[in-house]
Amino acid sequence: MGTPFTRRDFVKLTTAGMLGVLAANHASAAQRSATRSPQSPSVRPFPKGFLWGTATAAYQIEGAWAEDAKGPSIWDTYAHTPGKIKNNENADVANDHYHRYQEDVQLMKALGAKAYRFSIAWPRIYPEGTGPANPKGLDFYNRLVDELLTHGIQPYATLYHWDLPQALQDKGGWQNRDTAKAFGDYAGYMAEKLSDRITHFFTINEFHSFVDMGHRGLEMAVGGKTVSIELAPGMKLSPAELNQVRHHAVLAHGLAVNAIRAKGKKGTKCGPAENITIPVPLIESPEHIQAAERATREMNAGYLTVMLEGQYLDAYLNAAGKDAPKVTADDLKIIGTPVDFVGINVYRPSIYVLASDNAPGYREIPFNASHPKMLSSWHVLGPEAMYWAPRFVHSLWKAKEIYITENGCAADDTLAEDGQVYDTDRVMFLRNCLTQLQRATADGVPVRGYFLWSMMDNFEWSAGYGNRFGLIYVDFKTQKRTPKLSASFFREVSVRNALA
Ligand code: NOJ
Repeated sequence: MGTPFTRRDFVKLTTAGMLGVLAANHASAAQRSATRSPQSPSVRPFPKGFLWGTATAAYQIEGAWAEDAKGPSIWDTYAHTPGKIKNNENADVANDHYHRYQEDVQLMKALGAKAYRFSIAWPRIYPEGTGPANPKGLDFYNRLVDELLTHGIQPYATLYHWDLPQALQDKGGWQNRDTAKAFGDYAGYMAEKLSDRITHFFTINEFHSFVDMGHRGLEMAVGGKTVSIELAPGMKLSPAELNQVRHHAVLAHGLAVNAIRAKGKKGTKCGPAENITIPVPLIESPEHIQAAERATREMNAGYLTVMLEGQYLDAYLNAAGKDAPKVTADDLKIIGTPVDFVGINVYRPSIYVLASDNAPGYREIPFNASHPKMLSSWHVLGPEAMYWAPRFVHSLWKAKEIYITENGCAADDTLAEDGQVYDTDRVMFLRNCLTQLQRATADGVPVRGYFLWSMMDNFEWSAGYGNRFGLIYVDFKTQKRTPKLSASFFREVSVRNALA
């Protein structure tokens, strides 16, 4: 074994000092993996070429909310409304990544990450939601992409991570079918401008979250309690209106896939990044596994299932009844346009299930009141979601390229007196999730990469800055970045491409 990380390693707080430490440890990890036999029972390898990356989103890190002709987004409006965000915080400055992206790319490199999933702020490109485009907005992403590539990090871009241009909201937002068309046009423009350097585009991030939490408010069962979460624009639509918003969101995805194919460089790949609803078999025997697989298809009917099958399930339409979405003849064909890959955000099991003799063939088992959870109000612990979610995406829809587009946890991180951040709970969480992911890849599930949420602490929507998800601690007063204990854990795993 090589030299383990020492406490002293973490005390170097300047970027330059930190990069030196990380580079030294990077080398020692590579040497260790070279001297260990891959057959050693304690080494659990990931497939060759597995992509390790981290993820962020524009509104959560960029700041510069009104700079370089950017238009306001629904999140600017929402966060500026008193009482919406914990402590009335907002992301006007956030991580100031807009000005510090070069330093942040250095930090990513030091983490051993080979890929970076970031989002493009639609209102930077189209301040009014539709043309004319703002060249200064595009310049920023050109600079970021070039910087990433210079440092050997592959850019993976998400086109919509919830920051709808306010100008479009003023015209009805996602309730207006024109928003789907505007999104398709914007997606085509981005593919035209960036697909010479970006090979993978995610259309929309977490349909389920921004539609349901943004347009009605979502209630979730967590350890015997019900937790409600609201996102911008904070509407309370009727079930019929909500189903229509859902339909416009998946239609926007389909239009974007077609536009990327039409305007992007040949071979540019695209797909969704969905927070798939994950029913986990409480007992792993064939009948319960089959029941959970069936539940996965039905519980994702409004999003992944319609995108990957090109039709709404009868069960979904019957349950909606008179509130079912209004669909035109071509819509389903557009929505079901084949994608190149499927991205899924995996944090927790949505529900446990067991097989049942009664329709629909599965029974939902609520979380026990004492079920363990992580810091965020919604975050029950259940690492096996990381095995079952990609496995069912593969078995149900024959996806050949799957990415875990997000996984991570918030923790009560503080800088210790010695200047370090001992996030033992995050390391525990990640180790357990990655153990399940390794199990999936070892079973032949084609997961090609993993993006950890998040590269650094950032603005966690309605929870403000209190819920820290980063591998890197951020002091939001000084903008000083400090790698946490979990940064070392991530680097070890990504450099070795293996656990243990
Ligand atoms: C889902 C979202 O995509 C991301 O924006 C959020 O910060 C994380 N999960 C954690 O809640």
